[in-house]
Formats: sequence, structure tokens, C-alpha cells
Amino acid sequence: MCGIVGYTGNKQASPILLDGLSRLEHRGYDSAGIAVLKPDDSIDIFKAEGKLHTLKKKVDGNEPIGQIGVGHTRWATHGTPTDKNAHPHTDCSGNVAVVHNGIVENYLELRASLENEGHKFLSHTDSECIPHLIEKYLVEGYALTEAVGKTAQLLRGANAVSVISHQQADDIVAFRLGNAGGIVLGYGEQEMFLSSDLPALLPYTRKIAYLSDGEMVSITPAGANYYLTDGTSVSKAPSIAPPDTVTAAKGDYSHFMLKEIHEQPEAVISAMRGRISFDTNTVDGADFGLTDVQIAKINRVVLLGMGTSLHAAMVGRLWIESFARIPAESDNSSEFRYRDPVIDQNTLVISITQSGETADTLSAMELAAEKGAYQVAITNYDGTQATRIADSTLLMKAGIEIGVAATKTFTCSLITLFLFAMHLGQKRGTLEREKAATLLKEVALLPELLGKTVVDTTQYEKLAEQFFQYSDFLYLGRGVNFPLAMEGALKLKEISYIHAEGYPGGEMKHGPISLIDENMPIVALMPVGPRYEKMLSTASEVKARGGTIIAVATENDNSIATVADHTIQLPSTAHELNPILSAIPMQLLAYYIAIRRGCDIDQPRNLAKSVTVE
Ligand code: F6R
Repeated sequence: MCGIVGYTGNKQASPILLDGLSRLEHRGYDSAGIAVLKPDDSIDIFKAEGKLHTLKKKVDGNEPIGQIGVGHTRWATHGTPTDKNAHPHTDCSGNVAVVHNGIVENYLELRASLENEGHKFLSHTDSECIPHLIEKYLVEGYALTEAVGKTAQLLRGANAVSVISHQQADDIVAFRLGNAGGIVLGYGEQEMFLSSDLPALLPYTRKIAYLSDGEMVSITPAGANYYLTDGTSVSKAPSIAPPDTVTAAKGDYSHFMLKEIHEQPEAVISAMRGRISFDTNTVDGADFGLTDVQIAKINRVVLLGMGTSLHAAMVGRLWIESFARIPAESDNSSEFRYRDPVIDQNTLVISITQSGETADTLSAMELAAEKGAYQVAITNYDGTQATRIADSTLLMKAGIEIGVAATKTFTCSLITLFLFAMHLGQKRGTLEREKAATLLKEVALLPELLGKTVVDTTQYEKLAEQFFQYSDFLYLGRGVNFPLAMEGALKLKEISYIHAEGYPGGEMKHGPISLIDENMPIVALMPVGPRYEKMLSTASEVKARGGTIIAVATENDNSIATVADHTIQLPSTAHELNPILSAIPMQLLAYYIAIRRGCDIDQPRNLAKSVTVE
């Protein structure tokens, strides 16, 4: 969840490190810091509690001189967010500086034994034992790369670490253990870059390579050498990041989240591109990976994810059951990884993770791999750990998403899942040709309908004006719209800090109904579709108890006025595709309410864009 950057080259390091951190701040923003190795071999360190701008102010006018350095933006796990606990951390001599992402599970043990040997600790972090261990090995006469490798072998847990020291004054040495977030290397002309995430590198280079679990790298301005932590060489060639991942700028939008909400029509086109043959009315499964024989053998599908990605999984499950008639279930990765799931070679496991680095999802995938399941990853970033565990990868193609709240990656996950479910149905002969043709006609219209849905934001501003002071919301939906009720509640919670719950409409009577009064607005997802009448009854029951209803309904629905106090209209589409359209009101309502409450939209408190710790 923390962000790591590194630079070694022919330019001053500190502006590049600070710029890189500003592109990673969505990963953690409790504190930040940089370390620069100066020409006299000493290390200059700047750290500041709070957001990156506090660090930038500290550095402004005191820029450290040096062409190699590392930086960090923190999401606190061990130790409160203070200057002392901010990274980089150093050894006793101040000759080794370390930035760390992950959790050193055995740090208490390591710290006690280092303290016994005389090492002095300044912070309350688990991270600080890393520079002290490196120091110990340097004192024993090991070269920096060896000392870092030996240290890596002692750490338990998932960790990504990056180190500088005058012992190898041109080198940044880094390693990755398990799934504590990625390390991406960027190749420049006489310069090398390092980052937790690709977006921080893209202004400088698209020539990149990723570290895998258990790998180390030593970068100098001339290039990179890869090893395993025991020193065995590894050969790795850089690749070129695809152009659709390039540049993320806010433009005229006040927040990345708003920009990304508005990018959804484009993003969905990009996710559809190359996956549909409109001449034959079929989904083109060229990049879906599974052979016809493998598809025929599947007897169960498990869809995994966390947060918004879990909600996409929940919708995907229904599409797969409906189109491919395969028993399907969706599960929270963090629950799945700790139960003893029944899985075999004929189970298809589909994991959804925009970052490709969510620790719980990666561990769940590793478990599924051990049990021999065929695995598909749906992710926004090629080369990430999820893609390496999976047998095939379906890219969301959403472009870079900076806002911490997932928006366009959600709709791109949905359309990717929709087409994949259709593909499975077509290959298994369970999706009739005419039905497929009708669905694809509607799919073709989706970008235009999404465009219509995002265009009118004034209705959300008005709703926000009326509802921003409420402290609880209930979201209700049925069928494919139930996961959207969960998603709407999650969006509102995470960016506006209002308590919200998402429930299936049918569950309302079994408890939540007792919450209903004039202080509990209800967002009812009730576009025209198979369960529309049932939602109408649920809404009437709410109304009869004094609840206020904000209905998300299909345009020209004349019955809705009988129950709704406010109506957000969606264009008409195939009912199966409704969730993709209803994602927009879920996002915009949360956005404008959060704006009225003065919240930090792109960096909500306590959250991070990639959750690389359990
Ligand atoms: C919500 C949100 C989170 C993520 C979750 C999984 O807006 O962004 O709930 O969906 O942390 O992240 P990924 O998709 O990267 O695995």
C-alpha cells in the first residue's frame, strides 16, 4: 500500500523522486520521505508527517544534491504516522537508507536480536530492522547486493524494499518477497527508475520490467542486473508499456475521480475493442486464453475479488450462470484464502483486481493454483503479480486510474466479465445465437448510453445539496442490481464517510426495515427488468414507513413516481446490462455528496489504491 520510488542517473534525484511520489500518493498518504546519496557519500534525508505537500515544503529551498535516491509515501501499519516513523529508515551509521512496503512479520524477533547486538532503533516501525540487518552484513564484509540478499532471506511476510548506500554509490538495490506490491524498473538513457506502480514511471520511460516474488535487482545508470535473493543471476528483458496506459493528468476536472467517471464511455470502448465480431454477432475470444476443450470441461466457476472488484465478481457470477449455465459463486478473496475451498482442475477461478497486486486476492489465487484450478485474472495492469499467477489475463484496458475510489476500472471489469460470460455461453452452446445477437447490439450502444448517463451532473449536485448532512443511507437492489447496491454504499462510505449499507431488496423485511424513518434515505436500484415489480413493492413498503426514496430507474418509467421522491433516470438497455449503467449514478451521487461535505475525494482517509498488505 505504500509507494516506493528510486532514481539513479545523470540528473538531480530529488525532483524526480518527489514527482514520482506525487504519482504514487494514492498508495498511502500518512507521511512521506526521500533519501539522496550526496557526492561526499553522506545521505541526506527529508521526512514529513502528513501528505506529500508537507514534505515538498520541507525540501523546497534545501534540495539535496545527488543523482541517486529513494523515496516513500506511507500507509501506516506499524507505528503511528509521525516524522520518526516515516521512511526512509537508516542504520546506526546513517550509511544505509531503506524504503519498505509490506509487513516484516518477524520484526519483533529481529529487532530484539539486533538490539542485543547493540543496534539503536529510532522508530516504532517493523521496517527499521531492515537497514540494521543490512548494516550488520556490511560490517561482516559483504557487498551491498549480498547484504541486501541475506537480509531478504531473513524476513518473513510479503515485502518490497529498496536500498541505497555509499558502499555501492551508483546502485539502488531492491527486492520483492511475496505480494507486498510490485516493483517496476524503468530504463532511461544513462538513468534508471524504480517504482511500486507503473504510472510513476510513464513520464520518463515506457521501457519497463517487473520484479517477481523472490527476485532482487541492482540498478545503476547503465542498466539493471537481476538476481534471486541467494545471489543466483536471473535474466530478464525489459518490455514496452502499452500506449493505452500512458499519461494521467487531471485536465480541467477538479478531481481524478470525476475525470475517471467521465472517461467511462471511452474506457468501455477500449475494453470491448478486439473482443467482439459484429459481423458474426459473436464474442471473439482470441485473448481469453481458454481452449474449447478447456471450456467444455469447466464444472464450476469461482469469482474472487475485494471491495469494488468483489462487486464486479458478484455481477459476473450471475452472467456466467445465466449465459453459460455453469454453477458459479463469488467470494471475498480474504475469506476464500482461509477456508478450505473445494476446487479441482475443472474449476475455473476468475480473479478481479484492478491493481493486480491486492495481497488477499493474490494469496487466494496462489491457493487456487496449488489446487490445480485454471485461473483467469482480470486486471488493469499487465505484468503485475496477478498476471503471473494466472493462466490467462484479460486486461480491463481502462487506462490509468488515479482516484483511490475505483470507477472506470469497475465498469471495465464488468464489460470484460460480460463478454467473457457470453464467450463461455457461446462455446458451450448455452447462449442462443439470437439472444447473443440481441445482447451484442445493446453492448454496441453502451458507450453512447454511458455518455448520456454521465452528462447531466446537475441532478446529483441538487441531491447532494439535500442529502449531504444525513448520516446513514440504505441501498437496495435485486438480481444483477444487488451488487450495485453494495457498490453504491461502498462508494458513499469511502469518499463521504457517511455510513451506508447495501442489501438485496428481498432482505429488507428481515431486519433493515426497522431502520427506516425520515432520517434514512433509501437509494433503490430499480431499472426495468425481471425483478422490477418486486422492487416496486419493496419501495412502497419503505414509503409507507416514512422513508425517502431516491430511485435509479429506466427513463420514461411512469410508475416510478408513485414511490420515488427523487428519480435518477437511466437510458433503456438490455436488463442484463443495467449494472454497467447504474454504476454511474452510484459514483456521481457519492462524489457530489462528498464534495458538499468537503472530503478529500481522490485520497479518502485511511485508504490506498493498492492494498498490498493483508
Ligand atoms: C473501492 C476500491 C477498493 C478496491 C479493493 C480491491 O473503490 O477501490 O474496494 O476495489 O481494494 O482492489 P483491486 O481491484 O486493486 O484488487
